[in-house]
This record gives sequence, C-alpha cells and structure tokens, in this order.
Amino acid sequence: MLTQVGIVGAGPAGLVLSHLLARDGIESVVLESRDRDYVERRVRAGVLEQGTVDLLKATGVGARLEREGLVHHGIELRFEGQAHRIALSELTGGRAITVYGQQEVVKDLIAARLAAGGRIEFEAAAVGVDGLEEDAPVVRYRQGGQERQLRCDVVAACDGSHGVGRESIPAGAIALYETEYPVAWLGILAKVAPSTEELIYSYSQGGFALHSMRSPTISRLYVQCRPDDDPASWPDERVWSELHARLAMPGFALAEGPILEKGITAMRSLVVEPMQYRRLYLAGDAAHIVPATGAKGLNLAVNDVRILADALVEWYRSGRDDLLRGYSAACLRRVWRVQHFSWWMTQMLHRFEGESEFDHRLRLSQLRYVCSSRAAATTLAENYVGLETV
Ligand code: FAD
Ligand code: PHB
Repeated sequence: MLTQVGIVGAGPAGLVLSHLLARDGIESVVLESRDRDYVERRVRAGVLEQGTVDLLKATGVGARLEREGLVHHGIELRFEGQAHRIALSELTGGRAITVYGQQEVVKDLIAARLAAGGRIEFEAAAVGVDGLEEDAPVVRYRQGGQERQLRCDVVAACDGSHGVGRESIPAGAIALYETEYPVAWLGILAKVAPSTEELIYSYSQGGFALHSMRSPTISRLYVQCRPDDDPASWPDERVWSELHARLAMPGFALAEGPILEKGITAMRSLVVEPMQYRRLYLAGDAAHIVPATGAKGLNLAVNDVRILADALVEWYRSGRDDLLRGYSAACLRRVWRVQHFSWWMTQMLHRFEGESEFDHRLRLSQLRYVCSSRAAATTLAENYVGLETV
C-alpha cells in the first residue's frame, strides 16, 4: 500500500490528523490494531477544552457534539465537607469546557472519515517502521495473519502509550522524562443520573474522588486507589461506599445505579523529546502521558496534530520544511505547561501513602487559597479550560 501520510493509531490523535489532512487534499491511511467496535466503545476521557471543541466544530465534525455535549461553566472543589465553585467562564472571559465522551469523538471522526472516502484499516497492527534513515519510511503491519507494508512520505505515530512508533526511533536519538505517582484511579461508568450539575473534585481523609458524567442518565465516577489494586478487590459495594465517604457533605446525596464499566488507570507523567525523528512524528499519548487529574490527555493530543497538520500542509504546498522541523519545539511548550498543571492538580488532590500530617495541612492550605483568591482560582481556571497561548 502507498500513501502520503501513514498514520498509526485510530485514537483521537490519528483520526483528527487524518481528518485535518483530508481537508487540505492530503491523503493518509490509518492503521489501527483493534476492531472498529472496540475503539468506539473504549471508555476514557470526557472533558473537552474550549479549543478542542472549536476545532471539531470548525472542521465539520461537531454537529453531534453541539447537540449532545454538556457545556460546563464551572467545577467544584470539595474538601473539609465544603463545596467551593471555581467559576471557569467568569474567570476566563467566557471560556468553558464540554463534557462529551472520547468514544463519541472517535465515533464521529470515524464516520466522517469513512463518509469522505478516507482509509482506516482496522485490525491492522503496526509492528515497526523501516526506511527512516533513507527518508523512505515503510510501516510494517500485520493484518489477517499476514505481514504487509505501507509506504509513505512521512509517518505519524499516534499509537498511544504502548505503541511501536517510538520504539522505531534509535536509542540515543530521543530522551524520556518521566515520573510515577504512587496512586491510581478506579473509574466506573454507572447507569444513574449524575448527582451534580458540575464536576466535583473532592479531597478527603480517605483520598481523592471525582464525580463526572457522560449524559443526563450516565454518571462517570472515580476513586483514588493503589496502583497495584486489582478491580476484583473493588466489588460494587466497596466502590459506592468509598464514593459516599469521600464525597460526603451536608445536604449532598449520591445516587447509585448499576455499574456498566469498571477499570483502573495508573497516574504517570512522561514526555519524549524531541517528538520527531527524521520523517517519523510522534503525537498524543505516543509522545506524552499526563495524569488524568487535569483532564488534558485528549486535548493535548488534538493540539499536537493540529500543529503537525499545518506543518505537513505547508510542506506539501511549498516544499518548505521549517514548520516540520519545528514541530516538536512548537508542541513541547504546551506539553510542559500541561504537565505542570496536571502534576499540580494531582499533588493538590490526592493523599499519598507515608506522607505526614504536615503534607496534608499544606494541601488544605493550598486548596483554601485556590478557592479564596481570585488570582489563584484564575490560575486553575485558565489552565483547565485550556490556555489560548502558552
Ligand atoms: P489513544 O487514544 O491511546 O489511541 C491510540 C490508538 O492506537 C489506539 O486506538 C490503539 O488501539 C492504537 N494502537 C496502539 N498500538 C498500535 C499498533 N502497534 N498498531 C496500530 N494501532 C495501534 N484526557 C482528557 O483530555 N480529558 C479527560 O477527561 C481524560 N480522562 C481520562 C480518563 C481515563 C480513565 C484515561 C485512561 C485517560 C483519560 N484521558 C483524558 C487521556 C486520554 O484518554 C488520552 O490522552 C487520549 O486517548 C490520547 O489519544 P491518542 O490518540 O494519543 O491515543
Ligand atoms: C471524565 O469525565 O472521565 C474525567 C473528568 C475529569 C478528569 C478526568 C476524567 O480530570
């Protein structure tokens, strides 16, 4: 197979890239190791920044998002049994977030690509990228029990945190910066109307909890757990009892419902620098991971491919490669800002094993400051809705 841009991975990064390129007449093939049903059902992120929503709408894939997405103008921070609202829109000149499931974004993008004649190969797992030294990249992949090849001008590795794109870069050509947090999240999707209108980030004696949602009838909730926990050690009763305890506040009642999905997510931070090697470009989780506390991973992935698409359009149009050469530097400014914000939110909202009462009291002071100082609240708000410039 032959194409202009070979894209590995049909997550948000790969699909948005393919969509943006097609709008400028650039051909791509997306290789995805899973089947269509699997990627359309995989429950992950839910918070879209203003900029992400604007891009999806402006490029013609925002119709359902506009109808079904829940626009939120604030979030709640809850601690010491009290609720504090961070007025996102008021603090950011009217910007907001939209709650809309990642798998819905993925569904909309797949439908749009296929309707426009785009090529997405499902159950096609990339195994490696050759020809990088010769500037003639070839993606080797397995499909239907056979090894196949995709020849292209450039490769975009949008294959997530465990992809093969990054492994195709010679050791020594990139550096990895990472840190792990000694906490994880157990997330559930429950068939029950949300008990809150806005997201609640709660810090309690027992640890962190988050009340989010997907629709007026589906709630998404998380509790801090240990990274080595097994979902089996979290039967439904334990999940609900921890959620009740950690979200407790006078006058607040948490409604329970059947649990439709349950999973554990590690909290870690990783940045790959640079995010490119010759004609291979890394985008999204393939290049960086952020802990979910800041709700940033999907948004960062979309930002990368917006920059990559612009650079590729310029290269194909005029032969100029300065934007492509500057791709990594252009992305990394936002990547590191978001890393810091996500790390800060994670530190502020979790209890860590072995920490002292001193740490706990510092955290409470930080939370009180964020909720009482307009300057501090604005810092949280402008990062949370997504900074316009970094
Ligand atoms: P992915 O979505 O991981 O897509 C990569 C794709 O590549 C996958 O479809 C995979 O199957 C495919 N693939 C992998 N290897 C190969 C291969 N060898 N060959 C072919 N295909 C391959 N982010 C937010 O912005 N807001 C949130 O609220 C938020 N909440 C989250 C909650 C949870 C529980 C989790 C787990 C994540 C959350 N995130 C959130 C992060 C967000 O989901 C990711 O950052 C996002 O999915 C990154 O998109 P991506 O396209 O880079 O990678
Ligand atoms: C979600 O709705 O899944 C969600 C919301 C906020 C986060 C992380 C995940 O910080």
